[in-house]
Amino acid sequence: MISHHSTLYNVFVVSFAQNNAKVAVLGASGGIGQPLSLLLKNSPLVSKLSLYDIAHTPGVAADLSHIETRASVKGFMGPEQLPECLKGCDVVVIPAGVPRKPGMTRDDLFNTNASIVASLTSACAKHCPEAMICIISNPVNSTIPIASEVFKKHGVYNPNKIFGVTTLDIVRANTFVAELKGLDPARVTVPVIGGHAGKTIIPLISQCTPKVEFPQDQLEKLTARIQEAGTEVVQAKAGAGSATLSMAYAGARFVFSLLEAMSGKQGVVECAFVRSDVTEVPYFSTPLQLGKKGMEKNLGLGKLSPFEEKMVAAAMAELKASIKKGEEFAKNFK
Ligand code: NAD
Ligand code: LMR
Repeated sequence: MISHHSTLYNVFVVSFAQNNAKVAVLGASGGIGQPLSLLLKNSPLVSKLSLYDIAHTPGVAADLSHIETRASVKGFMGPEQLPECLKGCDVVVIPAGVPRKPGMTRDDLFNTNASIVASLTSACAKHCPEAMICIISNPVNSTIPIASEVFKKHGVYNPNKIFGVTTLDIVRANTFVAELKGLDPARVTVPVIGGHAGKTIIPLISQCTPKVEFPQDQLEKLTARIQEAGTEVVQAKAGAGSATLSMAYAGARFVFSLLEAMSGKQGVVECAFVRSDVTEVPYFSTPLQLGKKGMEKNLGLGKLSPFEEKMVAAAMAELKASIKKGEEFAKNFK
């Protein structure tokens, strides 16, 4: 009787919370923003979708609003409409900012994207300080420290609610491993830790489920491909931007996991770049147990192979520098 009751209660709580999530996308008219908003509109987990950009949101919102799913869609354009967009949001996803062109590093985007992320997160700190903030804008290794410092400045910082979205690295690792081993990618799980740029992207193939083995030379090639997969897309798009469709998929996967965890689902785990005391650097991505209040438990590094330990050590200097660059920027941002 008790278990029957609690099941009914859970069903009620889950569906109540799921049906009432308000999600905002900041940068909603962009290459990522549009397909990401489409996936969110298509989800029963979202009841209100708030789309913000500095251009084109009336059109994107009108278009999406005709889809026969229950989420109501509203477009907001320009900074004066941002407060209204953010009011009451449970989750804010931020893919605003410029993408790479061939020959650029993610850090080359810092000058433009740092101030975009600082001003958008400053508005979040003012208008939805309790919301989960999921940042896609690059360079992620610096934009998450920026957002954190901005929230601190406003006195509303909660490290459990600010996430650098690295899910695309996991999605790629799963896909590439599945390809090499002839597996169904949907059944492969590779944790990817560290950061989200080149050598700071550290796939833990030794922790893959199902268990897989590669000769060292193949393991090194696979690792390098995962680390440079963003560049693979940038080069293939030849000046027209970086990953947008796979990123929209990955961003939606992360948001759906978060929404499910927020509405009481147990055992939801995703990797993300967060405030962390797992290594010597203050922000680091590892598998996280998500819950009603965001990051509930950092599951840490797990057991690393000697090859993976070396990669973690080799990532420290770059991570430290990118984090410091973000923190310094935020301290001077007005
Ligand atoms: P895009 O240029 O197609 O779109 C960016 C959008 O941001 C545009 O619609 C633009 O109008 C908007 N924008 C610019 N300034 C804004 C502001 N102040 N407020 C609100 N919106 C603003 O770029 P994209 O391909 O969608 O990429 C966006 C960002 O995501 C880039 O920084 C890119 O490097 C990053 N990215 C990250 C990952 C990841 O794994 N985390 C993956 C792919 C891309
Ligand atoms: C990616 O990994 O695809 C993104 O970070 C975009 C980029 O610049 O590579």
